[in-house]
Amino acid sequence: MIKREIDSKLVQQLKDKMKEGLLPQWVITDPDIYELERERIFGKTWQFLCHETELKEAGSFVTRWMVNDPVLIVKDRKEKIKAYLNSCTHRGTQLCTADRGKKKTFTCPYHGWSYNLDGELVGIVAGNKVYGEEMCKDEWGLREIPQVASYRGMVFGCLDPHAEPLEDYLGDMKWYFDLMLGRSDDGMEVIGLPQRWIAKANWKSTAENFAADPYHVQTTHRSTVEMGISPEDPLYAGYGHQVVMDNAHGINVITSKTGRSRAKYQGMPESMWPMFERNLSSEQRDILERVTVFVGGVYPNLSFVSPIHGTEGYLHNYLNFRVWRPLGPDKVEVWCWFLIDKNAPKEYKDNAYKGYLGSFGPTGTLEQDDTETWARIVEVSGATMMRNKELNYNNVSNYLMGFSNVEVDHTFTGPGVAYPTTYCDALSRRMHEHWLDLLTKPSRVEEASR
Ligand code: FES
Ligand SMILES: [Fe+2]
Repeated sequence: MIKREIDSKLVQQLKDKMKEGLLPQWVITDPDIYELERERIFGKTWQFLCHETELKEAGSFVTRWMVNDPVLIVKDRKEKIKAYLNSCTHRGTQLCTADRGKKKTFTCPYHGWSYNLDGELVGIVAGNKVYGEEMCKDEWGLREIPQVASYRGMVFGCLDPHAEPLEDYLGDMKWYFDLMLGRSDDGMEVIGLPQRWIAKANWKSTAENFAADPYHVQTTHRSTVEMGISPEDPLYAGYGHQVVMDNAHGINVITSKTGRSRAKYQGMPESMWPMFERNLSSEQRDILERVTVFVGGVYPNLSFVSPIHGTEGYLHNYLNFRVWRPLGPDKVEVWCWFLIDKNAPKEYKDNAYKGYLGSFGPTGTLEQDDTETWARIVEVSGATMMRNKELNYNNVSNYLMGFSNVEVDHTFTGPGVAYPTTYCDALSRRMHEHWLDLLTKPSRVEEASR
């Protein structure tokens, strides 16, 4: 049974703690909180589904999940992208069980009803008349996901038909998407399949780790320093800006101690530089010239990183998008995409892909470092002392970095509220405040079911 409300005393306590830069640790894995998150956060916000290059032609499809909602995404005959609940309207069985492919119709494995790319019910085994009198097939088409939209090739869905349009939801993040995804004439493409695996972790911790926590890099990923890939300087991932945006989106623009990157335009081939210069504004160009790593997130559960990997002469850059699909308060399914500029030379793409596999995904060394710490957060969050809501400062996480000692940097030229270091908890604090705001407002689905 879902607890529909968090006790008002508790809400006030959470608000008070957050004002002080603290977050009680029990909220990470509390089962009642998790049920509310499913309805009030994932039932109301835009979630990433796929990239347009995963659907190459009419009839191409992929299957995805929005937490518990199975989604079938197709390119219809007019090459428009549509998303349906991946559930047969007869008895509700999951309709399409393949990850991806190309089809003209989808036939249910249970009793054989079939649907076309427009979601219309086009076939009933033994014909309509087995239902007594002819059944009106028009009434039994697939149910569409209430809102589907894309920006710069990134396709999102939203379960709330009244939620603000995707472009409004993304807000200032569009400017950074333009920079990362729109720098090349033909945009980006997904290479390979999205890798996916299950990790013992809570989605809030993984989203925060990527979007808002470069501070962990010099300790969790210490082996990269020992191998000579990262600098000894413990501040090395802290140089640059952390940018906080509306709806708790954010990005870290990590440069270096000198404010420059170790490689201009993230080590992309020099032949592509004039194209970047043509496609970007002078402010965007300046940032792309100087950045080493972009790392950030679109609230609630899409994260991205665009790093430089490799050694001098073999540097490469790519874009990794990932969705943290909650499977419970202590479990996430990670979905991980590799994207690169379509216009990049084939050999460069191949090397970048190898670099990605060595760093991220199930075979990646950086991924494995992070996965261990996420599991330990989950384990500790359920401890009796952590769950004692009366204890004061013994059971809270610390978000005090930059709380009173870092001012907004108004000279930063990109949109959003920028802080002059990425060792800063401003974005984490914003994410958790937003989390509480959403959690304390009933969703329209809930209101309608009351
Ligand atoms: S559940 Fe799909 S045809 Fe019966
Ligand atoms: Fe990490």
